Amino acid sequence: MTTKTALVTGANKGIGLEIARQLRALGLHVLVGARDPLRGKEAATAIGAEFLQLDVTDPDSIAAAAGQVEVLDVLVNNAGILLERGALPSATPVAMLRETFEVNVLGVVAVTNAFLPALRRAPSARIVNLGSGLGSLAFTADPSHVYAQNPLLAYNSSKTALAAVTLSYANELRSTPIKVNLADPGYCATDLNFHSGPRTPTQGATAAVRLATLPDDGPTGAFHDEDGVVPW
Ligand SMILES: NC(=O)c1ccc[n+]([C@@H]2O[C@H](COP(=O)([O-])OP(=O)(O)OC[C@H]3O[C@@H](n4cnc5c(N)ncnc54)[C@H](OP(=O)(O)O)[C@@H]3O)[C@@H](O)[C@H]2O)c1
Repeated sequence: MTTKTALVTGANKGIGLEIARQLRALGLHVLVGARDPLRGKEAATAIGAEFLQLDVTDPDSIAAAAGQVEVLDVLVNNAGILLERGALPSATPVAMLRETFEVNVLGVVAVTNAFLPALRRAPSARIVNLGSGLGSLAFTADPSHVYAQNPLLAYNSSKTALAAVTLSYANELRSTPIKVNLADPGYCATDLNFHSGPRTPTQGATAAVRLATLPDDGPTGAFHDEDGVVPW
């Protein structure tokens, strides 16, 4: 059997590093996508993976990275940012939305499109995007839900857009062996939230790793956390 190859974006730390570590432990050849070579190489070496320079907002970086990968079995679009720092929706500059969408939404589209030829060359590829319960309209439309108390305009709307992006790709690729799903890691302690989350990055990686290694009869166009289905 040939070894499967996985690419995780933003894998030099946090949940991405844990996803990379767990995929490596399952025997995959793992590419640690990172924008900074020093941080990326250090993380890759620590888990026995390979570094791949990849800034998801830089078309040249994306093209150069895609040019180095002939066949890709797993793409995990993990790189993401949260810039609000407590700002309310009415006080959120439009520029903050633009910057957030650039990474959390447009970056995912650009990376997915660039690697799709390599994913199509794999026998049954998996694409996993990192969503969030904060992007679930079902949760945030319910005023009594804890996520309705966290109206992060740029971050939440970017993750809702990412949910739509995930479904668009799942529907386009439904007739192929490629499955496209959205993973919710839950609220994990990482640099993104100044380590305020109660969960560990290791726990946060669970849903993404499961979706990255789905069997051929697994779902596509699904939104899952560690316990199962998350409402859109
Ligand atoms: N933590 C949570 O509670 C939580 C909950 C739900 C969803 N998520 C999602 O999970 C994913 C990982 O988050 P995390 O909590 O692990 O955050 P994190 O520790 O801040 O890590 C984010 C990663 O994304 C990378 N990144 C940012 N901009 C990038 C770019 N332009 N190109 C390439 N890489 C870039 C960062 O690289 P640098 O080190 O170079 O900045 C870092 O490796 C994100 O999509 C996040 O929205 C997190």
